[in-house]
Amino acid sequence: PAPGTVKVVEVGARDGLQNEKTPVPTDIKVAFIEKLLDAGVKHLEATSFVSPKWVPQMADASKVLSIIPSPPSVVYNVLTPNLQGFEAALAAARASNPPKKIEVTIFGAATESFSKANINMSIEQSIKRFDAVCQKAREEGVPVRAAVSCVLNCPFEGDVDPAQAARVVKLMYDMGCFEIALGDTTGRGTPAGMKALVRACIAAGVPVERLSAHCHDTFGQGVANVLAAVEEGVRVVDSSAAGLGGCPYSPGATGNVATEDVVYMLHGMGLKTGIDLDKLVDAGAFISQSIGRRNESKVGVATLAR
Ligand code: HMG
Ligand code: MG
Repeated sequence: PAPGTVKVVEVGARDGLQNEKTPVPTDIKVAFIEKLLDAGVKHLEATSFVSPKWVPQMADASKVLSIIPSPPSVVYNVLTPNLQGFEAALAAARASNPPKKIEVTIFGAATESFSKANINMSIEQSIKRFDAVCQKAREEGVPVRAAVSCVLNCPFEGDVDPAQAARVVKLMYDMGCFEIALGDTTGRGTPAGMKALVRACIAAGVPVERLSAHCHDTFGQGVANVLAAVEEGVRVVDSSAAGLGGCPYSPGATGNVATEDVVYMLHGMGLKTGIDLDKLVDAGAFISQSIGRRNESKVGVATLAR
Protein backbone atom coordinates (compact mmCIF):
# COMPACT_ATOMS: atom_id res chain seq x y z
CA PRO A 1 0.00 0.00 0.00
CA ALA A 2 1.00 3.65 -0.58
CA PRO A 3 2.63 5.46 2.37
CA GLY A 4 0.06 6.45 4.98
CA THR A 5 -2.40 3.79 3.87
CA VAL A 6 -3.35 0.36 5.12
CA LYS A 7 -4.73 -2.37 2.87
CA VAL A 8 -7.78 -3.89 4.53
CA VAL A 9 -8.67 -7.38 3.36
CA GLU A 10 -12.31 -8.07 4.18
CA VAL A 11 -12.70 -11.77 5.01
CA GLY A 12 -16.31 -11.73 6.23
CA ALA A 13 -17.84 -13.54 3.27
CA ARG A 14 -15.36 -16.43 3.70
CA ASP A 15 -13.86 -16.64 7.21
CA GLY A 16 -16.93 -14.89 8.61
CA LEU A 17 -19.52 -17.24 7.15
CA GLN A 18 -17.68 -20.57 6.78
CA ASN A 19 -18.59 -21.66 10.31
CA GLU A 20 -22.33 -20.90 10.17
CA LYS A 21 -24.27 -24.10 10.80
CA THR A 22 -27.38 -23.08 8.85
CA PRO A 23 -26.70 -22.61 5.15
CA VAL A 24 -26.54 -18.91 4.32
CA PRO A 25 -28.42 -18.42 1.03
CA THR A 26 -26.14 -17.54 -1.88
CA ASP A 27 -28.09 -14.35 -2.59
CA ILE A 28 -27.43 -13.11 0.98
CA LYS A 29 -23.69 -13.73 0.51
CA VAL A 30 -23.81 -11.84 -2.79
CA ALA A 31 -25.80 -8.93 -1.31
CA PHE A 32 -23.28 -8.71 1.55
CA ILE A 33 -20.36 -8.55 -0.91
CA GLU A 34 -22.18 -5.86 -2.93
CA LYS A 35 -22.60 -3.74 0.21
CA LEU A 36 -18.91 -4.15 1.07
CA LEU A 37 -17.96 -3.03 -2.44
CA ASP A 38 -20.27 -0.05 -2.06
CA ALA A 39 -18.40 0.86 1.16
CA GLY A 40 -15.17 1.06 -0.84
CA VAL A 41 -13.71 -2.33 0.06
CA LYS A 42 -11.27 -3.31 -2.69
CA HIS A 43 -9.77 -6.53 -1.35
CA LEU A 44 -12.05 -9.30 -0.27
CA GLU A 45 -12.15 -13.00 0.27
CA ALA A 46 -15.27 -14.09 -1.57
CA THR A 47 -15.42 -17.82 -0.78
CA SER A 48 -13.35 -21.01 -0.59
CA PHE A 49 -12.96 -23.87 -3.02
CA VAL A 50 -12.64 -26.57 -0.38
CA SER A 51 -14.25 -29.92 0.15
CA PRO A 52 -18.00 -29.44 0.84
CA LYS A 53 -17.77 -32.42 3.19
CA TRP A 54 -15.26 -30.51 5.30
CA VAL A 55 -16.90 -27.08 5.07
CA PRO A 56 -20.52 -27.38 3.84
CA GLN A 57 -21.12 -23.62 4.08
CA MET A 58 -18.72 -22.99 1.17
CA ALA A 59 -20.37 -25.54 -1.15
CA ASP A 60 -21.74 -22.72 -3.33
CA ALA A 61 -18.26 -21.33 -4.09
CA SER A 62 -18.58 -21.50 -7.89
CA LYS A 63 -22.01 -19.91 -7.79
CA VAL A 64 -20.90 -17.05 -5.51
CA LEU A 65 -17.83 -16.29 -7.58
CA SER A 66 -19.72 -16.31 -10.85
CA ILE A 67 -22.59 -14.03 -9.78
CA ILE A 68 -20.85 -11.35 -7.69
CA PRO A 69 -20.26 -8.12 -9.63
CA SER A 70 -16.98 -7.55 -11.52
CA PRO A 71 -15.85 -3.97 -10.85
CA PRO A 72 -12.56 -3.42 -12.70
CA SER A 73 -10.72 -2.26 -9.56
CA VAL A 74 -11.55 -5.37 -7.53
CA VAL A 75 -9.61 -8.64 -7.49
CA TYR A 76 -11.44 -11.30 -5.53
CA ASN A 77 -9.56 -13.68 -3.32
CA VAL A 78 -10.63 -17.30 -2.90
CA LEU A 79 -9.13 -20.09 -0.81
CA THR A 80 -7.72 -23.06 -2.71
CA PRO A 81 -5.92 -25.74 -0.67
CA ASN A 82 -5.07 -27.93 -3.67
CA LEU A 83 -5.12 -28.14 -7.46
CA GLN A 84 -8.70 -29.38 -7.49
CA GLY A 85 -9.79 -26.18 -5.73
CA PHE A 86 -7.56 -24.02 -7.90
CA GLU A 87 -8.97 -25.42 -11.11
CA ALA A 88 -12.56 -25.05 -9.94
CA ALA A 89 -11.87 -21.44 -8.94
CA LEU A 90 -10.26 -20.57 -12.24
CA ALA A 91 -13.10 -22.19 -14.20
CA ALA A 92 -15.72 -20.21 -12.24
CA ALA A 93 -13.79 -16.95 -12.67
CA ARG A 94 -13.42 -17.48 -16.40
CA ALA A 95 -17.00 -18.63 -16.91
CA SER A 96 -18.45 -15.46 -15.43
CA ASN A 97 -19.42 -12.65 -17.72
CA PRO A 98 -17.25 -10.58 -17.89
CA PRO A 99 -14.48 -12.94 -16.67
CA LYS A 100 -13.23 -12.13 -13.17
CA LYS A 101 -9.74 -11.42 -11.98
CA ILE A 102 -8.92 -13.59 -8.99
CA GLU A 103 -6.11 -14.29 -6.63
CA VAL A 104 -5.98 -17.45 -4.57
CA THR A 105 -4.92 -18.24 -1.02
CA ILE A 106 -3.14 -21.39 0.03
CA PHE A 107 -3.48 -22.02 3.74
CA GLY A 108 -1.18 -23.89 6.05
CA ALA A 109 -0.37 -23.92 9.72
CA ALA A 110 2.52 -23.34 12.07
CA THR A 111 1.74 -26.55 13.99
CA GLU A 112 1.44 -30.15 12.82
CA SER A 113 -1.75 -30.83 14.80
CA PHE A 114 -3.63 -27.92 13.29
CA SER A 115 -2.39 -28.71 9.79
CA LYS A 116 -3.76 -32.24 10.19
CA ALA A 117 -7.10 -31.04 11.65
CA ASN A 118 -7.67 -28.30 9.08
CA ILE A 119 -6.38 -29.74 5.82
CA ASN A 120 -5.66 -33.38 6.66
CA MET A 121 -1.96 -33.11 5.81
CA SER A 122 1.34 -32.67 7.60
CA ILE A 123 3.10 -29.34 7.11
CA GLU A 124 5.55 -30.98 4.70
CA GLN A 125 2.80 -32.62 2.64
CA SER A 126 0.93 -29.32 2.53
CA ILE A 127 3.98 -27.50 1.21
CA LYS A 128 4.17 -30.01 -1.68
CA ARG A 129 0.48 -29.51 -2.49
CA PHE A 130 0.86 -25.74 -2.27
CA ASP A 131 3.89 -25.77 -4.50
CA ALA A 132 1.82 -27.50 -7.18
CA VAL A 133 -0.86 -24.81 -6.82
CA CYS A 134 1.79 -22.06 -7.02
CA GLN A 135 3.31 -23.51 -10.18
CA LYS A 136 -0.06 -23.85 -11.90
CA ALA A 137 -1.07 -20.37 -10.75
CA ARG A 138 2.12 -18.93 -12.18
CA GLU A 139 1.36 -20.53 -15.56
CA GLU A 140 -2.14 -19.07 -15.45
CA GLY A 141 -1.04 -15.62 -14.25
CA VAL A 142 -2.95 -15.88 -10.96
CA PRO A 143 -1.32 -14.28 -7.88
CA VAL A 144 -1.04 -16.51 -4.80
CA ARG A 145 -1.48 -15.33 -1.23
CA ALA A 146 -0.87 -17.50 1.82
CA ALA A 147 -2.34 -17.80 5.28
CA VAL A 148 -0.56 -19.50 8.14
CA SER A 149 -2.77 -20.54 11.05
CA CYS A 150 -1.78 -20.81 14.70
CA VAL A 151 1.12 -18.40 14.45
CA LEU A 152 0.74 -17.40 18.12
CA ASN A 153 -1.21 -20.23 19.67
CA CYS A 154 -2.68 -23.58 18.66
CA PRO A 155 -5.87 -25.18 20.01
CA PHE A 156 -3.99 -28.48 20.38
CA GLU A 157 -0.41 -27.46 21.16
CA GLY A 158 -0.77 -24.23 23.14
CA ASP A 159 1.56 -21.27 22.67
CA VAL A 160 3.68 -21.34 19.54
CA ASP A 161 7.32 -20.25 19.33
CA PRO A 162 7.68 -17.23 16.97
CA ALA A 163 10.63 -18.90 15.19
CA GLN A 164 8.50 -21.99 14.47
CA ALA A 165 5.75 -19.86 12.94
CA ALA A 166 8.26 -17.70 11.04
CA ARG A 167 9.75 -20.84 9.47
CA VAL A 168 6.42 -21.70 7.83
CA VAL A 169 5.83 -18.06 6.84
CA LYS A 170 9.24 -18.08 5.13
CA LEU A 171 8.39 -21.32 3.26
CA MET A 172 5.28 -19.57 1.89
CA TYR A 173 7.33 -16.52 0.93
CA ASP A 174 9.94 -18.67 -0.82
CA MET A 175 7.16 -20.34 -2.80
CA GLY A 176 6.41 -16.93 -4.31
CA CYS A 177 3.37 -15.84 -2.29
CA PHE A 178 2.89 -12.10 -2.64
CA GLU A 179 1.43 -11.74 0.87
CA ILE A 180 1.31 -13.99 3.92
CA ALA A 181 -1.44 -13.62 6.51
CA LEU A 182 -0.38 -14.27 10.09
CA GLY A 183 -3.37 -16.10 11.52
CA ASP A 184 -4.01 -15.86 15.24
CA THR A 185 -6.57 -18.61 14.83
CA THR A 186 -7.53 -19.05 18.49
CA GLY A 187 -7.40 -15.33 19.29
CA ARG A 188 -5.33 -16.11 22.38
CA GLY A 189 -2.35 -14.07 21.18
CA THR A 190 -1.40 -10.79 22.82
CA PRO A 191 0.37 -7.70 21.42
CA ALA A 192 3.76 -8.73 22.82
CA GLY A 193 3.49 -12.07 20.99
CA MET A 194 2.40 -10.37 17.77
CA LYS A 195 5.38 -8.01 17.92
CA ALA A 196 7.79 -10.88 18.56
CA LEU A 197 6.28 -12.80 15.65
CA VAL A 198 6.56 -9.92 13.15
CA ARG A 199 10.19 -9.45 14.18
CA ALA A 200 10.86 -13.19 13.81
CA CYS A 201 9.39 -13.15 10.28
CA ILE A 202 11.57 -10.18 9.33
CA ALA A 203 14.61 -11.91 10.88
CA ALA A 204 13.77 -15.02 8.82
CA GLY A 205 14.01 -12.90 5.66
CA VAL A 206 10.38 -12.04 4.93
CA PRO A 207 9.92 -8.32 4.14
CA VAL A 208 7.37 -6.66 6.44
CA GLU A 209 5.43 -5.34 3.40
CA ARG A 210 4.52 -8.95 2.62
CA LEU A 211 2.87 -9.62 5.98
CA SER A 212 -0.76 -9.27 6.93
CA ALA A 213 -2.23 -9.39 10.44
CA HIS A 214 -5.13 -11.86 10.57
CA CYS A 215 -6.46 -11.63 14.12
CA HIS A 216 -9.42 -13.34 15.73
CA ASP A 217 -11.09 -11.55 18.61
CA THR A 218 -12.00 -14.55 20.78
CA PHE A 219 -10.10 -13.19 23.78
CA GLY A 220 -10.79 -9.52 23.05
CA GLN A 221 -7.24 -8.92 21.80
CA GLY A 222 -8.06 -8.31 18.13
CA VAL A 223 -7.69 -4.55 17.83
CA ALA A 224 -4.70 -4.50 20.22
CA ASN A 225 -2.97 -7.20 18.18
CA VAL A 226 -3.64 -5.32 14.93
CA LEU A 227 -2.16 -2.17 16.48
CA ALA A 228 0.90 -4.13 17.62
CA ALA A 229 1.43 -5.40 14.05
CA VAL A 230 0.95 -1.90 12.60
CA GLU A 231 3.48 -0.52 15.08
CA GLU A 232 5.95 -3.10 13.78
CA GLY A 233 5.38 -1.85 10.22
CA VAL A 234 2.67 -4.22 8.95
CA ARG A 235 0.34 -2.41 6.51
CA VAL A 236 -2.12 -5.15 5.58
CA VAL A 237 -4.92 -6.28 7.90
CA ASP A 238 -7.50 -9.06 7.49
CA SER A 239 -10.81 -8.49 9.26
CA SER A 240 -14.55 -9.29 9.07
CA ALA A 241 -17.44 -6.85 9.01
CA ALA A 242 -19.48 -7.21 12.22
CA GLY A 243 -16.71 -9.43 13.60
CA LEU A 244 -18.31 -12.41 11.89
CA GLY A 245 -16.77 -15.79 11.99
CA GLY A 246 -14.83 -18.60 13.52
CA CYS A 247 -12.76 -21.46 12.19
CA PRO A 248 -14.46 -24.86 11.98
CA TYR A 249 -11.27 -26.58 13.20
CA SER A 250 -10.51 -24.25 16.09
CA PRO A 251 -12.93 -25.20 18.89
CA GLY A 252 -14.49 -22.16 20.58
CA ALA A 253 -12.92 -19.64 18.20
CA THR A 254 -15.20 -16.70 17.54
CA GLY A 255 -14.97 -14.10 14.85
CA ASN A 256 -12.24 -12.16 13.19
CA VAL A 257 -11.50 -8.73 14.56
CA ALA A 258 -14.30 -6.46 13.26
CA THR A 259 -13.44 -4.42 10.16
CA GLU A 260 -15.43 -1.47 11.54
CA ASP A 261 -13.25 -1.44 14.69
CA VAL A 262 -10.02 -1.73 12.70
CA VAL A 263 -11.01 1.00 10.24
CA TYR A 264 -12.10 3.33 13.06
CA MET A 265 -8.74 2.86 14.78
CA LEU A 266 -6.68 3.29 11.61
CA HIS A 267 -8.55 6.44 10.55
CA GLY A 268 -8.03 7.78 14.09
CA MET A 269 -4.28 7.21 13.64
CA GLY A 270 -4.35 9.21 10.40
CA LEU A 271 -3.94 6.13 8.21
CA LYS A 272 -6.13 5.87 5.12
CA THR A 273 -8.08 2.77 4.11
CA GLY A 274 -10.34 4.05 1.30
CA ILE A 275 -13.32 2.65 3.18
CA ASP A 276 -16.46 4.63 4.04
CA LEU A 277 -17.05 3.71 7.68
CA ASP A 278 -20.79 4.48 7.74
CA LYS A 279 -21.45 2.28 4.73
CA LEU A 280 -19.28 -0.44 6.24
CA VAL A 281 -21.36 -0.28 9.43
CA ASP A 282 -24.47 -0.77 7.27
CA ALA A 283 -22.90 -3.80 5.60
CA GLY A 284 -22.10 -5.27 9.03
CA ALA A 285 -25.64 -4.60 10.26
CA PHE A 286 -27.09 -6.16 7.12
CA ILE A 287 -25.21 -9.44 7.43
CA SER A 288 -25.75 -9.74 11.21
CA GLN A 289 -29.50 -9.28 10.77
CA SER A 290 -29.66 -11.57 7.77
CA ILE A 291 -28.09 -14.51 9.61
CA GLY A 292 -29.58 -13.70 13.03
CA ARG A 293 -26.24 -13.01 14.73
CA ARG A 294 -25.32 -10.37 17.27
CA ASN A 295 -23.23 -7.60 15.71
CA GLU A 296 -19.79 -8.11 17.31
CA SER A 297 -18.35 -4.77 16.19
CA LYS A 298 -18.22 -2.22 19.01
CA VAL A 299 -17.96 0.60 16.47
CA GLY A 300 -20.85 -0.89 14.51
CA VAL A 301 -23.14 -1.15 17.54
CA ALA A 302 -22.20 2.31 18.87
CA THR A 303 -22.69 3.94 15.47
CA LEU A 304 -26.09 2.31 14.98
CA ALA A 305 -27.21 3.44 18.45
CA ARG A 306 -26.66 7.13 17.61
P1 HMG B 1 -8.99 -34.85 2.04
O1 HMG B 1 -10.25 -35.55 2.46
O2 HMG B 1 -7.70 -35.29 2.64
O3 HMG B 1 -8.85 -34.74 0.46
O4 HMG B 1 -9.22 -33.31 2.34
P2 HMG B 1 -8.70 -35.78 -0.68
O5 HMG B 1 -7.79 -35.17 -1.68
O6 HMG B 1 -8.39 -37.15 -0.13
O7 HMG B 1 -10.18 -35.81 -1.29
C1 HMG B 1 -11.30 -36.31 -0.57
C2 HMG B 1 -12.60 -35.81 -1.19
O8 HMG B 1 -12.65 -34.38 -1.14
C3 HMG B 1 -12.78 -36.18 -2.65
O9 HMG B 1 -14.18 -36.33 -2.86
C4 HMG B 1 -12.33 -34.94 -3.37
O10 HMG B 1 -12.95 -34.81 -4.63
C5 HMG B 1 -12.81 -33.84 -2.45
P3 HMG B 1 -14.87 -37.78 -2.91
O11 HMG B 1 -14.11 -38.52 -3.97
O12 HMG B 1 -14.66 -38.38 -1.53
O13 HMG B 1 -16.28 -37.45 -3.22
N1 HMG B 1 -12.00 -32.62 -2.58
C6 HMG B 1 -12.50 -31.42 -2.92
N2 HMG B 1 -13.74 -31.02 -3.19
C7 HMG B 1 -13.90 -29.70 -3.52
N3 HMG B 1 -12.88 -28.82 -3.56
C8 HMG B 1 -11.64 -29.18 -3.27
C9 HMG B 1 -11.40 -30.55 -2.94
N4 HMG B 1 -10.29 -31.24 -2.62
C10 HMG B 1 -10.68 -32.51 -2.41
N5 HMG B 1 -10.63 -28.29 -3.30
C11 HMG B 1 -8.83 -31.00 1.91
C12 HMG B 1 -8.19 -32.36 2.09
C13 HMG B 1 -7.72 -29.96 1.95
C14 HMG B 1 -9.56 -30.94 0.58
C15 HMG B 1 -9.85 -30.79 3.06
O14 HMG B 1 -9.23 -31.03 4.29
C16 HMG B 1 -10.45 -29.42 3.07
O15 HMG B 1 -11.22 -29.08 2.18
N6 HMG B 1 -10.11 -28.60 4.07
C17 HMG B 1 -10.57 -27.23 4.13
C18 HMG B 1 -10.62 -26.76 5.52
C19 HMG B 1 -11.06 -25.32 5.56
O16 HMG B 1 -11.61 -24.78 4.61
N7 HMG B 1 -10.78 -24.67 6.70
C20 HMG B 1 -11.13 -23.30 6.90
C21 HMG B 1 -10.27 -22.35 6.11
S1 HMG B 1 -8.69 -22.05 6.86
C22 HMG B 1 -9.02 -20.87 8.07
O17 HMG B 1 -10.13 -20.51 8.32
C23 HMG B 1 -7.83 -20.22 8.74
C24 HMG B 1 -7.55 -18.81 8.23
O18 HMG B 1 -8.67 -17.97 8.38
C25 HMG B 1 -6.35 -18.23 9.01
C26 HMG B 1 -6.57 -18.33 10.52
O19 HMG B 1 -7.47 -17.67 11.06
O20 HMG B 1 -5.86 -19.13 11.12
C27 HMG B 1 -7.17 -18.83 6.74
MG1 MG C 1 -9.25 -16.92 10.17
